[in-house]
Amino acid sequence: MSDSIFSGMKDEDYTSLAACAKERRFLTGEIIVREKTMTDTFCIIKSGKVEVTKRFSDGDEMILTLMEEGDFFGEMALLDQGPRSATVRAIAETTVFELAKNDFECLLHDAPDLAYSIMCELGKRLRDTGSLLVSHLEKKNKQLSEAYLDTVHALVSALEAKDTYTCGHTSRVTVVAKAIAGKMNLVEDDLFAIEIGALLHDLGKIGVPDAVLHKAGPLEKDEYSLIKEHPKKGEIILKNVEYLKRSIPSVLSHHERYDGKGYPEGTAGAGIPLFGRIVAVADRFDAMISDRPYRGHMEVASAVSEVKAQAGTQFDKEVVKAFLGLYESGDLAKLLTEHKKA
Ligand SMILES: [Fe+2]
Repeated sequence: MSDSIFSGMKDEDYTSLAACAKERRFLTGEIIVREKTMTDTFCIIKSGKVEVTKRFSDGDEMILTLMEEGDFFGEMALLDQGPRSATVRAIAETTVFELAKNDFECLLHDAPDLAYSIMCELGKRLRDTGSLLVSHLEKKNKQLSEAYLDTVHALVSALEAKDTYTCGHTSRVTVVAKAIAGKMNLVEDDLFAIEIGALLHDLGKIGVPDAVLHKAGPLEKDEYSLIKEHPKKGEIILKNVEYLKRSIPSVLSHHERYDGKGYPEGTAGAGIPLFGRIVAVADRFDAMISDRPYRGHMEVASAVSEVKAQAGTQFDKEVVKAFLGLYESGDLAKLLTEHKKA
């Protein structure tokens, strides 16, 4: 909080202030100003101490600041006589100089230096309050994102319990897809969307019969058709969930191929959403380095070569370039080692 407005104040200014303002006294715990009520006055604390709090729509009350002798509040009344944006409560016996707009005009006339310093502080105060509100909103946003991720992880656990062969696959695909997206300089919001999308990319397999999903041998044509429905099934599950809508491209398009020979739509090139093109690389790479009932796993270097060989046909060249960048820098090996430990 700023230095006391009384420090260095000329005696005649103090006299003018006392003459222009009304003096009011409050006991500890008394509310001086209540949030959302209309007032047309602002107050300078003559003595005592107050807390300024704000209540958010979720019921949370946040202490914006504490104020004491020589500080002031309610200064917005000088600009706009609207509802109070915060509650001010005495936390010690407190006396204030209360000034309505016409009282301030009296001060402007009788003690212009004092009035000017109050107005300068007003500008600073508005900026500080704005920063506090922004940091509160950022905190709330982070809590919300974490809640989304928890929900999605619960869904993925349900899926992996059904398909034990994919155990660990989903989280590895997610780590690699997010790293590719980071290498492609996607913004924070996109990284979050791709994280959720990669976690949910095979969600539609919940709708594929276990006998087909777990079949050890080669699939019959109609069985393969059932497997190929999983991106669409995933989309159907997600399309009515508002906060998961941005993850749909990863779910719906992760089996599309850059040359248009993929499924379910057979879309080609840039027509395939970027998130789908990224998850496709991460998904195919992880499938290659994983054991399957009908074959063993490939070594990482061989799988990387295979991804490279498919750039421009199965995969988007730019996505492969970012993926190779991760491999060459050693970041991919690090991610896989960390994932194994987790
Ligand atoms: Fe899939």
